[in-house]
Amino acid sequence: MEKYISNGPNDTVRIGEAFAAGLKPDDGILYKGEMGAGKTYFTKGIAKALGIAEEVTSPTFALINEYCGKKINLFHFDLFRIDSFDDLYAIGFFDYFDRNGVLCIEWSENIPDLSDSFNTVYQVTISKTGEESREITIEKIK
Ligand SMILES: Nc1ncnc2c1ncn2[C@@H]1O[C@H](COP(=O)(O)OP(=O)(O)OP(=O)(O)O)[C@@H](O)[C@H]1O
Ligand SMILES: [Mg+2]
Repeated sequence: MEKYISNGPNDTVRIGEAFAAGLKPDDGILYKGEMGAGKTYFTKGIAKALGIAEEVTSPTFALINEYCGKKINLFHFDLFRIDSFDDLYAIGFFDYFDRNGVLCIEWSENIPDLSDSFNTVYQVTISKTGEESREITIEKIK
């Protein structure tokens, strides 16, 4: 488990960018963390590392945002309103495997056994420790 302190949004982007260096297609990045923790900022860093110039915005309403990377794509999910595997099927979640992308998932804690669907899973937990400070832990759980 790796632990980082972020002192502002740009730090969180940099931590996400450095983390993304070793990612492979179909890897799952499962976020845990309250609203405004910085999950979307961390994903902006991952996008940067994958060579995505397009701005990464919250998939809160779309549920899924897709970005084409230089070598690896990025699929960014928000499961805030999803709470069952049936819902996951309904939004087409499983169609995003084998499409040469990493899957970044906000509110992954809404689906208890989500990690079962992946070969490789990183749990990224972001905790607010102050107005601009965050504790970020990254653990390869599978
Ligand atoms: N160290 C920090 N890292 C990331 N964001 C920070 C930090 N300090 C302050 N912020 C602010 O916190 C907010 C984080 O927003 P972000 O959309 O990334 O959160 P989120 O975890 O994705 O929330 P949601 O669950 O609502 O999607 C932004 O407004 C950002 O400016
Ligand atoms: Mg978000």
